Amino acid sequence: SSRSVTCQASPNIALIKYWGKRDEELILPDNDSLSITLDLTDMHSYTTVSTSPSMTCDTFYFEGVLQTKLSSRMQKVLGEVRRRAKDMQNQFVEIRSQNTFPASSGLASSASAYASLAIALTKLFNLDNPDATAAYLARIGSGSAIRSVYGGFVRWSSEGECLSSCVFPMEHWPDLRLIILIFNSSKKPVSSTDAMQRTRETSTLFSARLATVNDKIEKLIEAIRIKDFNTFAKIVMMDSSQFHAVCMDTYPPVIYLNEQSKHLIDLVHAYNETDENGAMKVAYTFDAGPNPFCFIREQHAEEFLRLLKYIYPTADNNVHKHVADSDAKLPSINVPIAPNVLERIVLTKIGSGPKIIS
Ligand code: DP6
Repeated sequence: SSRSVTCQASPNIALIKYWGKRDEELILPDNDSLSITLDLTDMHSYTTVSTSPSMTCDTFYFEGVLQTKLSSRMQKVLGEVRRRAKDMQNQFVEIRSQNTFPASSGLASSASAYASLAIALTKLFNLDNPDATAAYLARIGSGSAIRSVYGGFVRWSSEGECLSSCVFPMEHWPDLRLIILIFNSSKKPVSSTDAMQRTRETSTLFSARLATVNDKIEKLIEAIRIKDFNTFAKIVMMDSSQFHAVCMDTYPPVIYLNEQSKHLIDLVHAYNETDENGAMKVAYTFDAGPNPFCFIREQHAEEFLRLLKYIYPTADNNVHKHVADSDAKLPSINVPIAPNVLERIVLTKIGSGPKIIS
């Protein structure tokens, strides 16, 4: 008989970055990483997997379009499902995957896509140990996908089975917001898969990073536990910079940040200086690209958005749709105005994790 399962999963943003694989095939990471899973309502991937006796091969539809072949990583995931599911040996599957967000949102969709695929397949074939199995399957699809199988704050361990776990659920810090800035940029980046391999082969700073990552994670988890935004912000920004320093130390260098990224870094630090009590208001982090992910508490979000509107005036009214008109005074900061560099703003928050629909 034919059966089908649909699952939704969201992207995640690393607070402490995963960079380097000690095993390419199983995707075992060189270091632990920690991330926030985003809210499903703002953006997610949704994947439907079906199986029926009449199917004669595996098929994959992306955004409704039949793909000529399955990627090698997708084949690896299906191979592992066949190994685990006794009743799947002679059965084929149809995979239909879609994203509610465009590539231009600055978010890689591979994490949410592989997480939703892994969970849907685990459910469809009733695999043993569903949580660990879904995490394993997501990981062999794309390393960072293993963090999207849970909501809230998620840690991916580099030891033992190298699985992930939820450290704090979404409800732990409900007023934490994310503001994603999408700058105009046409630069074609080196894929993270290739770049991290090159880093392992050539960077000497890389081992220095590995020696300090676990300590940083413990300190960050404690900061999150007590909701100490100052410590949170400093650790997150420093890990982002260290990751990009390691990329620069790679040969040939991998440079993901650009002029606009640097401008935003200056803007955030200048803005953080304006608090009378010396408290931090915003933190940024950058993945393998120039667009910043900014963390901010709800109490400061409105002011920061007005500041962004002032610093990044743009012809596109849509960009500033989140920003209410107000006569309230902005803190004065010494950062140049940068017209027409901002293409999009995405406003979102922490999410509670994937959802099985049917
Ligand atoms: C910079 O998970 O995309 O976003 O395991 O090769 O698929 P593969 O790489 P991927 O790497 C993500 C790297 C990063 C940092 C992070 O998300 O932790």
